[in-house]
Amino acid sequence: MPVSEAMIAGLIDLKRADADGLAMQLTGQLRGLIASGRLGKGRALPSSRRLASDLGISRNTVTHAFEQLAAEGYLAASHGRRPVVTVDGAAQIDAAGTAASRPRIGKPRLSPWASKLKQTDWPMSYLAPLKPLRPGHGDAREFPNDIWGRCLRRSAVWAARRELGPVNRPRLRAALAHYLATSRGVRATADQILILPSAQAALTLIAAAVITSGDEVWVEDPGYPGAAAAFHASGARVSGIRLDEQGMQRMPGPAAPTLIFMTPSHQHPTGRLMSLARRTEFLRLSRPGKTWIVEDDYDGEFHYDSRPVPALQGLDAHGRVFYVGTFSKAMTSDIRLGYLVAPPALVSILEIAQRHIGLIAASHIQEALAEFIADGHFLAHLRRVRRLYHARRDHLVAGLERHLGEVLSVEVPSGGIQLVARLKRSRADQAAVKRVTEAGVVTRALSSLALGKPHDHGLLLGFAAWRESEISAAVRTMASCF
Ligand SMILES: Cc1ncc(COP(=O)(O)O)c(C=O)c1O
Repeated sequence: MPVSEAMIAGLIDLKRADADGLAMQLTGQLRGLIASGRLGKGRALPSSRRLASDLGISRNTVTHAFEQLAAEGYLAASHGRRPVVTVDGAAQIDAAGTAASRPRIGKPRLSPWASKLKQTDWPMSYLAPLKPLRPGHGDAREFPNDIWGRCLRRSAVWAARRELGPVNRPRLRAALAHYLATSRGVRATADQILILPSAQAALTLIAAAVITSGDEVWVEDPGYPGAAAAFHASGARVSGIRLDEQGMQRMPGPAAPTLIFMTPSHQHPTGRLMSLARRTEFLRLSRPGKTWIVEDDYDGEFHYDSRPVPALQGLDAHGRVFYVGTFSKAMTSDIRLGYLVAPPALVSILEIAQRHIGLIAASHIQEALAEFIADGHFLAHLRRVRRLYHARRDHLVAGLERHLGEVLSVEVPSGGIQLVARLKRSRADQAAVKRVTEAGVVTRALSSLALGKPHDHGLLLGFAAWRESEISAAVRTMASCF
């Protein structure tokens, strides 16, 4: 119902203790009256003197509110005259539908991509607190933040002077190509490397580039849920392939799929290492241009018992392998940098897709990282934490054997940042996780990483991010739970 001039003050309710201030409250309430149509177009408002006196506030406060509403286009105000409403709030609301008349939309119609994403609970399934023994992390406390800070500072100063350049910074591409060739046996030129905000971004990009709805994709089971989610959302039929002691098994039977996702250096989550023979077998299975292999080398920097097995990508002479890496584990989780070594035939379309989707990492961070690697800080950090994580792995294994040897059997990984401990007498890993979580130790149930019905059960325990004293305390707590 429209409001008469005399009623206006009665509709305003100002709270002196409100943090918003009187002028802001008055502006908001007058705006509401106009927008709802209760103060219609052409209506004159009381003078600032009158409204101030009716509301018991200063005239300045009212003038301020009138000026603000005039600036927003709700009022016409001129000196010595009462302000007049200039918009027809009622008409605008009718065009948009009033709150009462607006039809209930119900569930919004989603794209097939978003609908499929909704069917997975990744990444929501794992928002555990960062406490011992949460898996999946390196120790951010061991990262040389002072050196990294100097690299960042230099690149920020440099950024102020530079022209906008390529999205994949050439210095970082070159430094990475050299590091990956010498440390991981990856065979790639610098311009095959895309710098991305995460490994997960690489998986989304790959799915967008090569998956057609209905394509068959194989993933490890249990495996990394982020990969299954990315390929499922793109419309692929995702099949989980069981593991043996070498990681992903070759699937007997049907023809090769469009894509195979694997973590051959340290299978996620079991840490198993795929043999050279198995790698060669998968390569043989993948016909160039028909079956792609995605090698996710998320923590391949950490190997303790033997020399690292070179990347599968380096064995491929036909450009069938996407090699994916991340700095989340090797540096810190919040650095938000990953990379993709693309097969030569796909570099150009992937670069277009990268810019199209906007998966571009901040260039001053790329430059800082290029310097960090070129000056030897990255390798020095890896050498140091590799020793540390090795000792932590052994410490956790020894602690579990001493305190929980009756209940758990440990699968000792040759590298990586986490290990699997299986319950000897039960398959109820989720109940066990619940129990230890309540006692303050964070772990993850192996069965929660299954693609379908779980066939492997155990606890996934992180060791890299936790000091030996923290590991000991967590193991004692766990022991008290069983
Ligand atoms: C196997 C595997 N791949 C990829 C990632 C994701 O890395 P990013 O944080 O760079 O997306 C993770 C993270 O836990 C992982 O475990």
